[in-house]
Amino acid sequence: MGRFVSKHIEADYEALSEEAALFVYKRITAALNNSKPFVLGVATGSTPIGLYQYLVHLLADRRIDLSKFYTVNLDEYYPMKQTDSHSYYQYMKFHFWEPLQKANPTFEYEVQGFIPSGETDNPEAECLVYEERIKQRGGIDLQILGIGVNGHIGFNEPGSSPSSRTRVVTLSPETVSANSRFYKDDISQMPKKAITMGLGTILEAGEILLLASGKSKESIMRKLVALDKPDQSLPASYLLQHPRVTYILDIDASGT
Ligand code: PGA
Repeated sequence: MGRFVSKHIEADYEALSEEAALFVYKRITAALNNSKPFVLGVATGSTPIGLYQYLVHLLADRRIDLSKFYTVNLDEYYPMKQTDSHSYYQYMKFHFWEPLQKANPTFEYEVQGFIPSGETDNPEAECLVYEERIKQRGGIDLQILGIGVNGHIGFNEPGSSPSSRTRVVTLSPETVSANSRFYKDDISQMPKKAITMGLGTILEAGEILLLASGKSKESIMRKLVALDKPDQSLPASYLLQHPRVTYILDIDASGT
């Protein structure tokens, strides 16, 4: 593991979610209490759902002024209508944005939540706009990541370049298969492309928090922690080049 990587192993998914939410909450409030904006890079998928629930609870105190709190998503399927229940826009609205805004109206998701548009006719232009948006907000302070069974982060599939930026990608067969669970296992219904932040974009975040839960992640996490230098076949291994990374795993994912 890299010099500055810290690893926490929690008993189960609940404990992982609570620990991760507290970690994120401390970073957000430390910045906001100093009148600094905070940009949180957010992930979708099953893993961070519990984190978002706990985090909404922690941020529900209306004395916390969230008007300078922003979220930027890692990715969105392409093409994908914003109103489609499978879109990551709807995921964010359901699991984090709307509950947070209800609990603390100083957060307005339509203004402060950013996600690539899966509806655009010009995805290449959308990628450039997205990078620019992140830059205008001063960059990502903390990026939350899950990990794919093939080691992807965001939709940066094996073979992605460490200098890649936000771009249109083709999903790997492993990812299409893993995510088809949201399409009643009907692979033909799954989008085959996405817009994703690049590895280079992710690696510019000030700090990174990677979460992994469950037996299905044990094999990839074992491979990841055994590496001492990045390997292009395992995109998450480029995190070894980042100075501030924390892994929070549950016992099942850690294989201990
Ligand atoms: P998951 O997805 O949280 O649903 O396991 C993680 C990922 O594919 O990055």
